[in-house]
Amino acid sequence: SLSFSISFLFYIHGFSISTLAVLALAFAQALAYDPSPLQDFCVADLNSPIFINGFVCKNPNLVTAQDFFASGLNIAGNTQNKVGFNVTLVNVQRLPGLNTLGVSIARLDYAPNGLNPLHTHPRATEILTVIRGTLLVGFVTSSPNNTLFQRVLRPGDVFVFPIGLIHFQLNVGRGPAVAISGFNSQNPGLIVIADAVFGSNPPIPVQVLEKSFQVGQNVIQELQAQFK
Ligand SMILES: *[C@@H]1O[C@H](CO)[C@@H](O)[C@H](O)[C@H]1NC(C)=O
Ligand SMILES: *[C@@H]1O[C@H](CO)[C@@H](O)[C@H](O)[C@H]1NC(C)=O
Repeated sequence: SLSFSISFLFYIHGFSISTLAVLALAFAQALAYDPSPLQDFCVADLNSPIFINGFVCKNPNLVTAQDFFASGLNIAGNTQNKVGFNVTLVNVQRLPGLNTLGVSIARLDYAPNGLNPLHTHPRATEILTVIRGTLLVGFVTSSPNNTLFQRVLRPGDVFVFPIGLIHFQLNVGRGPAVAISGFNSQNPGLIVIADAVFGSNPPIPVQVLEKSFQVGQNVIQELQAQFK
């Protein structure tokens, strides 16, 4: 009976430890955006032939203020394209000092009626503020709810797009619009839904798209033709 109790205790103990481990792992993953730095800075050596998560550090003795600097966000991107939108992103590629720091920034320009089309950032939450104009912004929650949260934003307004969720911004004002976004990743990544789904290389098999979207081949082929 004693040995039973002891083994039972061990069982409970083992169970709680593994449960804790699983919970801790889940929690850590929920909180895990970019990894934390292990030193003051690790300026990216963008030319290193070594592949690691992020970039190899440039020799700290050779680092200068220039490595922490970028310019040009005062300049509007050219919005004369199909969607009337342009993003100027300052990520680790453009500002090597961002390496390991888990942040980046972008300027977003919208022509009248311009749209930042449905997209997601696989590695970052985005916090956006409007500098000029009026934007309708929104994101959709994950399955099964697929709830749309949307709002109209004016200068000074701030909106957050949670990591990984599909979102958009539409210029609903009369003139051009400008916004600034911050990201909690040195490399937020970008998946434009239409490009990924209908413009992949090679294309996703038509049967897959037909079933996925519950429409016929003609509709799929028309969509694919827009994103070649
Ligand atoms: C965005 O603007 C830049 C700078 O004007 C331009 O070089 C680039 O081609 C534009 N991108 C798109 C997608 O229009
Ligand atoms: C999704 O919808 C269900 C049913 O309305 C609700 O109980 C649940 O809280 C929702 N989940 C989220 C994350 O909003």
